[in-house]
Amino acid sequence: MPLAKEEYISDAWKEGLFNNKVVFCTGGAGTICSAQVRALVHLGANACIIGRNVEKTESVAKDIATARPGAKVIGIGAVDVRKFEALQGAVDRCVRELGGIDFVIAGAAGNFLASINQLSVNAFKTVMDIDVMGSYNTLKATIPHLKESAQKHRVDSASLKPSPLGTGGRIIFVSATLHYRAAPFQTHVSVAKAGVDALSHSVAIEFGPLGVTSNIIAPGPIASTEGLDRLLPAPAMREYIKSQPLGRIGSIRDISDATVYLFSNTGSYVSGQTLVVDGASWRMSSQNTSSGQMGYPDFLLSGEAVQHVKGQKKSKI
Ligand code: COA
Repeated sequence: MPLAKEEYISDAWKEGLFNNKVVFCTGGAGTICSAQVRALVHLGANACIIGRNVEKTESVAKDIATARPGAKVIGIGAVDVRKFEALQGAVDRCVRELGGIDFVIAGAAGNFLASINQLSVNAFKTVMDIDVMGSYNTLKATIPHLKESAQKHRVDSASLKPSPLGTGGRIIFVSATLHYRAAPFQTHVSVAKAGVDALSHSVAIEFGPLGVTSNIIAPGPIASTEGLDRLLPAPAMREYIKSQPLGRIGSIRDISDATVYLFSNTGSYVSGQTLVVDGASWRMSSQNTSSGQMGYPDFLLSGEAVQHVKGQKKSKI
């Protein structure tokens, strides 16, 4: 559904900021990543979004294209970030049809709630594969294009003036905050996101000399996302919102604005960093003590299993 501009981007940014730029985004049909891409498209970029579900990915791409008349947004479905060849094919098509890749958002992720007792070896591996291997595959498939773009858009090292062509050669990994402390029922995601964070830091130092920047956006609780809906059913949500340091949860616009900041000239000297966009939520020590109806530690001690979570199978291992 087309969104009003104020829903996905603030009015702080200059129209045309990303003219002639191309963004490649995995997980681009999801609530957060589609908003990030929509903001960049609104500001002039063309885009390629990747997803597993063909129909959803193609229809979200069409919808994002409504953010700017003349925008080109390609939706490539049936691409699993765990499969390098499929991802490489999508990158090749993006470059062929849109002319290159200036920005990458590695956003594809897998998540569900499960205690370690419920989490099979394969379930743990599945999330590691989607998050860690998927991010690495995304990096490997896109880095030649990021290097090329970085070369064209370097800040002059003597005068420190930005390139007149704008910015390019930047990657953002979408991570989380739950591994900063620890969160029950999220072991798999915590371990995976810690790996994604380490990957981003390494990219920053290995490709920095070539002008590439690498950063992490760690969203806090964001309204209308699958993740938050899964964690907090409606009645618990009201209490949760009240408990937040800013008295609210985040919007997709909060994440889009952080993305524009990192990809435009405002982020030129920011690399190897994590931009936590959570209204100080993770610093509240009480946040990890319960997940909706599942009070900690009572739920774990009860021996019950987390119910009604998409994708759950019966593996005992
Ligand atoms: N609790 C415990 N184990 C679970 C689970 C749950 N809620 N959901 C999946 N698993 C396990 C499966 O049982 C399976 O392990 P097994 O072979 O030992 O039984 C393993 O994870 C792989 O599951 P499968 O459904 O085959 O994997 P997939 O690759 O098709 O999908 C996900 C993996 C994570 C994408 C899927 O679980 C899912 O759809 N999650 C919700 C959507 C999502 O993650 N969106 C991203 C929001 S951040």
